[in-house]
Amino acid sequence: MREYKIAAIPADGIGPEVIAAGLQALVALARRDGGFGFDVTSFDWGSDRYKKTGTLMPEDGVEQLKTFDAIFFGAVGAPDVPDHITLWGLRLPICQGFDQYANVRPTRILPGIHSPLEGVGPGDLDWVIVRENSEGEYAGSGGRAHKGLPEEVGTEVAIFTRVGVTRIMRYAFRLAQSRPRKFLTVVTKSNAQRHGMVMWDEIAAEVSEEFPDVSWDKMLVDAMTVRMVKQPQSLDTIVATNLHADILSDLAGALAGSLGVAPTANIDPERRYPSMFEPIHGSAFDITGKGIANPVATFWTAAQMLDHLGEADAAKRLMIAVEQVCADGVMTPDVGGTATTRQVTDAVCEAIRGANL
Ligand code: IPM
Ligand code: MG
Repeated sequence: MREYKIAAIPADGIGPEVIAAGLQALVALARRDGGFGFDVTSFDWGSDRYKKTGTLMPEDGVEQLKTFDAIFFGAVGAPDVPDHITLWGLRLPICQGFDQYANVRPTRILPGIHSPLEGVGPGDLDWVIVRENSEGEYAGSGGRAHKGLPEEVGTEVAIFTRVGVTRIMRYAFRLAQSRPRKFLTVVTKSNAQRHGMVMWDEIAAEVSEEFPDVSWDKMLVDAMTVRMVKQPQSLDTIVATNLHADILSDLAGALAGSLGVAPTANIDPERRYPSMFEPIHGSAFDITGKGIANPVATFWTAAQMLDHLGEADAAKRLMIAVEQVCADGVMTPDVGGTATTRQVTDAVCEAIRGANL
């Protein structure tokens, strides 16, 4: 029997509610399959720990995670802790410490969920956004001088390296190659930003030579927002910088009907370290504890985790179950339903047990 060591970090807000739901679905899948299982260790890291001890995770936190096969992450952020502290105290040290340089964000319109775009339904919008996840605008480079004085200066420096851009470009071309349309769109802002972004364009052209069967085009990020809204069918796989893809993926989530169902995977493609899987939505303190958090994004990212672990059949089974439950209208209020987190989770587990695959 294949046993996977999973580190669960539910963290803040609705994180614990959706991670519990995700684990319940994973157990149902393991039972249904019979060939694999999970050994889950939960970590109580997050904002509550920060308020008590001054840090979101222990100093050797990243080290503690090293021996796991994957990390299953809820959400981090609290109304009374500044966002840059929670982000740089937990999520980014894990992403950067484990060099999870490929952030993968699939977007599709699930059955039963409505896109705000008129006449656009499932099948018209089927994208995967590949976000550079190790450098660029999130490199943390910059500083402030003369704090509080009229001459104060703040710099925020984006760092692009040939190694960093080449490897994300290869990842994106390979992913595009694995999808039926074999089509990649490379997003930059190389008209206004004439150094690092022009290097992106050059490296894209170089790497494209390695993938003669993949067709590709280029977009400036501002024009890309228009294309996403006006011609969603014209896109398939998309690669962009850390910040550009952050913004585009929110737009993608909204166009697919809800950010509440959008998943993400922080991948170390070389498999030197564990990869991390999380829903994109945040901690959502306004609905915490009400039992109505949407678990679909967590199920979807659990499917990404299963794929990464090599359990492709189980991943497929989970997504079939989720789509069936959404199509049946068993959905939480954020996507127009009246079901609770528990009702959606139970329905998905039931569908897993009954799935034909
Ligand atoms: C995301 C989020 C984060 C990001 C926030 C919470 C800092 O928006 O995963 O897209 O910008 O990376
Ligand atoms: Mg974002």
